[in-house]
Amino acid sequence: MEERKKILVAGASGALGFEIVKFMSEKGYELRVLTRSDEGAKKLAPYCNDIWQADASKEPAKIENISAGIDTVVSALGNSVSLFTPNKESFYEIDYQSNKNLLQDAKKNNIKRFVYISIKGADSNKDYTVANAHKLFEQELRASSIPHTIIRPVGFFSGIHDLAIMAKRNVIPVVGDGSAKTNSIHHKDLAKVVIRYVDSGPELIEVGGPKIHTRLEMAEMIKEAIGGNIIKIPEIVADAGLAMPKFFEDFHDKLDYFKYITTRDMIGESYGTTTFKEYLSNLDKNQLP
Ligand SMILES: NC(=O)c1ccc[n+]([C@@H]2O[C@H](COP(=O)([O-])OP(=O)(O)OC[C@H]3O[C@@H](n4cnc5c(N)ncnc54)[C@H](OP(=O)(O)O)[C@@H]3O)[C@@H](O)[C@H]2O)c1
Repeated sequence: MEERKKILVAGASGALGFEIVKFMSEKGYELRVLTRSDEGAKKLAPYCNDIWQADASKEPAKIENISAGIDTVVSALGNSVSLFTPNKESFYEIDYQSNKNLLQDAKKNNIKRFVYISIKGADSNKDYTVANAHKLFEQELRASSIPHTIIRPVGFFSGIHDLAIMAKRNVIPVVGDGSAKTNSIHHKDLAKVVIRYVDSGPELIEVGGPKIHTRLEMAEMIKEAIGGNIIKIPEIVADAGLAMPKFFEDFHDKLDYFKYITTRDMIGESYGTTTFKEYLSNLDKNQLP
């Protein structure tokens, strides 16, 4: 009988990580998970009994040998890109340093594969803090000689939540003329893509959802589902805002990347079936802050 593989999912309590854990647990994978928070550990308990809890960037000793007995590491560990979730640590500390600490342990324990969730735009030539941290880790992974798949997704529907929250407060901002296109993806559909590449896959894949829309079309769909007014912000005004003193470094970095991704086409290979319209129609407005 074929021996069942053991998978470590890091970032297991996050929007994407949690969907990966649920699917893997349904499929009968043997799982170990890493989360940072008490809430994360609580949420994961029904799906896994091998839960490690640590801050992978600040407490490397606590993740020592987390990869022992593991075949594949799947990392969806990263700082939140939501404008409404303030991060306590920098993108460099989380997306780069935490994942580097995991990779070092994975190398020591001779794991067979590493699947890393990066971000579409990680190869940008401009120095975006968000993209750069992913880019630096991608370089570490390539240099490690561990067989790997780097998945660079476009925005998740859960990430577009920010716009839904703003819509509830009456404003749906569109930077520029709104003609830039993207095929954002449901994090559940993305979780299925990740599982597909757990055993083997290309070294790099850029992933998007089933339908391509302009940013203006997406804003119109949000307006129809939630309400609010679409406000077009000229790029020059957005740039002026970003040139102001950085009172909140984290917010500034996220806004800078938000402007970057919403003003150019961000299209990944098409996966999944859930459309943005379907996602919005199932969104409970009352649950939005
Ligand atoms: N959201 C998007 O639209 C989008 C688009 C493209 C790419 N991505 C990338 O995809 C990845 C996953 O995104 P997501 O939206 O699922 O993120 P998320 O919901 O913010 O989840 C992040 C996960 O990482 C964990 N984590 C963060 N810092 C940690 C640390 N120092 N030590 C241990 N665990 C830590 C969190 O644990 P706790 O819950 O315990 O804090 C959580 O499980 C990120 O790297 C993100 O950059 C996201």
